[in-house]
Amino acid sequence: MKPAVLVARAVFPEVVERLRHHFDVEVNSDDRIFNKAELVERLHGKVGVFATGSVAIDAEVLDANPQLKVVANMAVGYDNLDVPACTARGVLCTNTPDVLTESTADFGFALMMATARRVTESEHYLRRGEWSKWSYDLFVGSDIHGSTLGILGMGRIGQAIARRGAHGFGMRVIYHNRSRISDAIEAECKARYVDKPTLLRESDHLMIVMPYSKETHHSVGAAELAMMKPTATLTNIARGGIVDDAALATALAARQIAAAGLDVFEGEPRVHPDLLKVSNVVLTPHIASATVATRLAMANLAADNLIAGLGFGPRSGKPPTPINPEVLRQ
Ligand code: GLV
Repeated sequence: MKPAVLVARAVFPEVVERLRHHFDVEVNSDDRIFNKAELVERLHGKVGVFATGSVAIDAEVLDANPQLKVVANMAVGYDNLDVPACTARGVLCTNTPDVLTESTADFGFALMMATARRVTESEHYLRRGEWSKWSYDLFVGSDIHGSTLGILGMGRIGQAIARRGAHGFGMRVIYHNRSRISDAIEAECKARYVDKPTLLRESDHLMIVMPYSKETHHSVGAAELAMMKPTATLTNIARGGIVDDAALATALAARQIAAAGLDVFEGEPRVHPDLLKVSNVVLTPHIASATVATRLAMANLAADNLIAGLGFGPRSGKPPTPINPEVLRQ
């Protein structure tokens, strides 16, 4: 008998087929979001789970399923997983870094540019039939080229955004991160490390790309927004909860900053109602990595991790991208 795994959200059929080669697979083909009780029940008898950001694996879920061995997350972020609880129980966690870096950086740039150049706001105006003539100040925005790009969180995606800004658009790039990146990468990205207040004060376009954790909760709230230029934009492609959405909506309504671009939200898929009332914000439904090729690469990498983590396939026992590799050594 093959070991049983749960694919907790709908995913590419060809990736499910790969899993079926090794496992008895239960797929959530309806793609309903399971509540905790349903997840606990669906995991009964499963040694592995193919998860996404909406699948929360915590101590309670683990204790109700002591047979679970591998959690393969199809996302680079893993704030949905209680990694210490998994490690303590010998459960391997994996994520999908690298394969999404460039597509996500492309989208960060697209969202920042749409925000600075008021693309969706002006399209809505046109669709409402309000456009009657060209005017010198119709939807004037701010330049990207030659401006200062501030990056909060300088991991792989932050660096990919820095490269686009510095080399593609002649931007001056500054960043803030828990720790400084190497001189060599700073030189390659033409990026200069600054403290957080300097980042907030000097950025024309602030890009948030840091992981979410208790420590980064509301890293940008009313106090931080008050330090930004009134002409600045803020783009968040990282996680909801890093920005205080209520404070951001207030700052946007008061034109304390010029505009924002948000791909992620606190408590998504709910969006703070005050954000829906302001016109100077571009809103997208968590799609930064959403190209066909990248989503397929992410799904295949999650499958590779699940297969190898459970001791199958050519990389048996050596999953490509573990989050808690210490479990493998236990
Ligand atoms: C998407 O948000 C991811 O973490 O991959």
